[in-house]
Amino acid sequence: MQTSNRCLSVCTPGFRTRQKRCVSVPMNLWTRPSFPLVSLTGSNGMSAASSSDLVHRYGGNLPRYTSYPTAASFSEAVGPAQAESWLRALPAQQPVSLYFHVPFCDELCRFCGCNTSVMRHEDGRLAYGDLLREELRRVVALVGTRRSVKHVQFGGGTPSTLPASALRQIMRSVRSMFQIEPDAELSMELDPRHVPVGYPALLGGLGFTRISLGVQDLNPQVQDACGRHQSFEQTEACVTAVRNAGVSGVNIDLIYGLPYQTEESVAETARRIASLRPDRLAVFGYAHVPWKQKRQRLIPEESLPKPSERLAQRARMDTVLRAEGYLPVGLDHYALPQDALVRAASTGTLRRNFQGYTTDSCDVLLGMGASAISMLPDGYVQNITAVAPYARAMADHDGLPIARGVERTADDRLRGSLIERLMCDMGVDLEQMEAQLDVFSPELGALEPLIQDGLVTVEGPKITVTEKGRPFLRHVAAVFDTHRKTLSQAPSSGAPQPRFAGAL
Ligand SMILES: C[S@@+](CC[C@H](N)C(=O)[O-])C[C@H]1O[C@@H](n2cnc3c(N)ncnc32)[C@H](O)[C@@H]1O
Repeated sequence: MQTSNRCLSVCTPGFRTRQKRCVSVPMNLWTRPSFPLVSLTGSNGMSAASSSDLVHRYGGNLPRYTSYPTAASFSEAVGPAQAESWLRALPAQQPVSLYFHVPFCDELCRFCGCNTSVMRHEDGRLAYGDLLREELRRVVALVGTRRSVKHVQFGGGTPSTLPASALRQIMRSVRSMFQIEPDAELSMELDPRHVPVGYPALLGGLGFTRISLGVQDLNPQVQDACGRHQSFEQTEACVTAVRNAGVSGVNIDLIYGLPYQTEESVAETARRIASLRPDRLAVFGYAHVPWKQKRQRLIPEESLPKPSERLAQRARMDTVLRAEGYLPVGLDHYALPQDALVRAASTGTLRRNFQGYTTDSCDVLLGMGASAISMLPDGYVQNITAVAPYARAMADHDGLPIARGVERTADDRLRGSLIERLMCDMGVDLEQMEAQLDVFSPELGALEPLIQDGLVTVEGPKITVTEKGRPFLRHVAAVFDTHRKTLSQAPSSGAPQPRFAGAL
């Protein structure tokens, strides 16, 4: 799951559209000895004793760093006018990636942190498809036609809730307004329980190359508690159908930390799902945010695994997936050795954006749809979150339905690249960052406890996150996040609520 290009809350049927510089750094920072890893047990380097200590030291709530600054820094100070001028200023030869957000599902799952709703009316789904095309037309009026595109993603929610005719029209618009590269990745999220008849063939025919499937867990008790009943056979049938339709890329999402999960149950799920040989797997930690997502209040708190159990579950899944031939990528992904994600990770070209880990090297992402986020050289902008006001804004004005955003300063860009390299490469060479290195003296000092705990090593300008430190990547990234301090000092109204989910 990404904080980000995802969904909303209102069911609104039938809404209408109108249409290198290395500079001096205190010597002690570079010459600090790197600490040997302590008591490694297994591939993930997590011993039981050390993990409980770590849980105490590294609790808290942290962002997932799919952007920097993170969405928590977005504000209404950046609106449609700013977004439009940023879009107009895009260099003519700048390639772009496209994201379409569809905030509807066929049924709602209790664990789900996305703001999604059930849109039963076909008219409403068709009308939403029209809105996506109209928004694309408005964006293209600002950035011009025929830009090169290598990634087009449909996320949600469940984008296959778009009727076939709506998806065909959107893809026709995309192909007429952009230059889709022959090796482009076209991807869509699917719910294996609700794949409309003929949809796999439709995706194959439209040139889709990758699908992403939600599974989460196969255990009946866990599924009961999550309100998501999905048999292994349903998932298998979906994978087979899309592969038979020519869509070769398959991602599957699993979650640990769900109600009633145990080390045994998550290991069993990971083993069975690995037998389907998806080329990529995401293994997310359940984000329990009932103060934001009311439906999660239906999950009894006492059924949730404790942080130390979560870490142990994560470690078991890691062991199973490695034994099944998968390699870990970044914080929470696994892929087969020949997969492009692994190649990107090994060559330092892996990227992290609002879609999570990606091979997409493009620096511009244009997001369409309610709550969609766009990434531009000057900053990030997000559309109005809920469907009805998004649709109203599209109908009432000719401009873009932007609600909020954040401008990126030079410091944000520097820290953003550093955090991205940490999250992707499990390390960063500060010498390769275009900055005065002494800028980071306080951060290098703040890494000391993580070094002591064997999560990080620092040798000269090189920061390396150890295998034991992988689950704590966000903690390492957070050391370089100057916005966190400002946000935590910002006054809040009412009872203080965390902005992010638990970091372990
Ligand atoms: C946007 S959802 C789409 C899932 C797809 N519509 C389906 O039903 O299979 C993408 C992924 O986000 C993850 N996700 C959703 N809620 C989450 C939560 N509360 N904590 C962790 N991951 C979550 C799940 O792994 C899910 O598969």
